Amino acid sequence: MKVDVLLGLQWGDEGKGKVVDVLTPKYDVVARFQGGPNAGHTLEFEGQKYVLRSIPSGIFQGDKVNIIGNGVVLDPALFKAEAEALEASGHPLKERLHISKKAHLILPTHRILDAAYEAAKGDAKVGTTGKGIGPTYTDKVSRNGVRVGDILHNFEQKYGAAKARHEQILKSLNYEYDLTELEKAWMEGIEYLKQFHFVDSEHEVNNYLKDGKSVLCEGAQGTMLDIDFGSYPFVTSSNTVCAGACTGLGVAPNRIGEVFGIFKAYCTRVGAGPFPTELFDETGDKMCTLGHEFGSVTGRKRRCGWIDLVALKYSVMINGVTKLIMMKSDVLDTFDTIKACVAYKVDGEEIDYFPYDITEGVEPVYAELPGWKTDMTKMQSEDEFPEDFNAYLTFLEEQLGVEIKIVSVGPDRAQTIERYTEE
Ligand code: GDP
Ligand code: IMO
Ligand code: MG
Repeated sequence: MKVDVLLGLQWGDEGKGKVVDVLTPKYDVVARFQGGPNAGHTLEFEGQKYVLRSIPSGIFQGDKVNIIGNGVVLDPALFKAEAEALEASGHPLKERLHISKKAHLILPTHRILDAAYEAAKGDAKVGTTGKGIGPTYTDKVSRNGVRVGDILHNFEQKYGAAKARHEQILKSLNYEYDLTELEKAWMEGIEYLKQFHFVDSEHEVNNYLKDGKSVLCEGAQGTMLDIDFGSYPFVTSSNTVCAGACTGLGVAPNRIGEVFGIFKAYCTRVGAGPFPTELFDETGDKMCTLGHEFGSVTGRKRRCGWIDLVALKYSVMINGVTKLIMMKSDVLDTFDTIKACVAYKVDGEEIDYFPYDITEGVEPVYAELPGWKTDMTKMQSEDEFPEDFNAYLTFLEEQLGVEIKIVSVGPDRAQTIERYTEE
C-alpha cells in the first residue's frame, strides 16, 4: 500500500482539517508528521465545530487509528487540554491515538524562549504563534531535545538539564518570566500523557502498509511556511512539504501515493512576512469578513489577497501534487471580478517563476475573470456549478497543470463536492 499526503500549498489555514475529516472514511490510519500546536485545524459537522491542534483530524470518523508522528513537536499541557475537551464531548481517543516516542516535547521554557526571541527581533519579528515551535525544533537539530520516549527513562534529569540550559539563555537575554504556572500545567500534562500508547511509529506505519492498510498523512501549516522553501525567515521551523511526511513518519519516498494539494480560492497569511497579492482595500476586507479570516488558534486577523499562481505553481512542483483541492470558493460568490496573479514584475521585468526572495519589489501581474455571482453553499454536485465558476476552475487547472478534484463550498463536512467522479 501507499501513503497519501494532504498538505497546504499556501501560507496555512487552507482548510486541511476539514478535508482530512472528509477523506478519513477512505483510510485506515491518519497521521500528523510535522508541526505542533501552532496548527489550528477546524472541522464542522452536525452543527458542532472543533479546532484541533496536535491531534490528527481523522479522530472523529469511526475507530480509525490516529498517529502523532516523530516529526511532530508536542506540548503536554496543550495536548491534555485538547484531548480532555474531545473526550468530554463524547469522543474517546485513548485507545485510538498513538504517539511516537521520537516526537519532541515542547518544554515550558521553549515557549518563553519563543517570546524572548521574538521580543529581541523587534520590528523584524516573525509573528510566531508563541507556542515554542522554533526553540523546540532548534533543540532537536542541535541534539539537545527531550523526546516523548524520555518520559519513561531518566526524565527528571533530562528535563532538568534542558531547563537549566534554557534559563541560562533567558538570563543572557535579560528576559523576565515566571515559569510557575506554565510548569505546573506542563507536569500535569506529562502525567496525563502517560495514559496514551507511546509507539515506534515508523514500525507501526510500515507494518500497516505491509498488511495492506491505507494511511493518510495530514500536513500542518503550508508550503509557503516551509523552513526550506517558504518565505524565509518568515516561516515555521519544520518541513511542511511532502518530503516532511517521509522524515516525519519514517515512510520511504517510494511509498508516497497521492499528494493532495489544498488551496483557498484566494489567499491568506497570518503573522509577518511578504505576501505579494495582499490587498489593503475593501476587497481584502470583504474577503476577511465573508471568509471569517481570523486565526483558529490565536484569533489574529488573517491578511487577505488574491490567489497567487506563481507561488502555487512552485508549491505544486515542490510537493509533486497529483490532485488539487480548492477551498472557500463560496467566499468569492458575490464578487463581480476575480483576479489571479499569473506573474511577478521584479525590477520592471516580468517573471513567471517563484524567485529567491519576495521580500521587496515584487509586483503581481493579474489575469481577470468574471465572477460567478451565485450562492454555491447549498450545491451538491459539480453539475450545478455556474459557467463562470467552471471557467475559473479550468483556468486554474491550465495554469497549475493538475486537476482540481474537490471543491469546498462551505465549512461543513457536507459542503464538499468531488469532481470527475466517474474516475
Ligand atoms: P487548516 O489549518 O488548514 O485546517 O484551516 P483552518 O481551520 O485554520 O482555517 C480554515 C477555516 O475555513 C476554518 O474556519 C474552516 O471552518 C473554514 N472553511 C473550510 N472550508 C471552507 C469553505 O469551503 N468555505 C468557508 N466559507 N469556510 C471554510
Ligand atoms: P495551520 O496548520 C497559518 C505561522 C505563524 C508565523 C509563522 C511561524 O493551522 O495551517 P511558528 O509558531 O510556527 O513558529 O510561527 O508561521 N503559522 C501558521 N499560519 N496556519 C498555521 O497552521 C500556522 N502555523 C504557523 O503565524 O507567521
Ligand atoms: Mg489553521
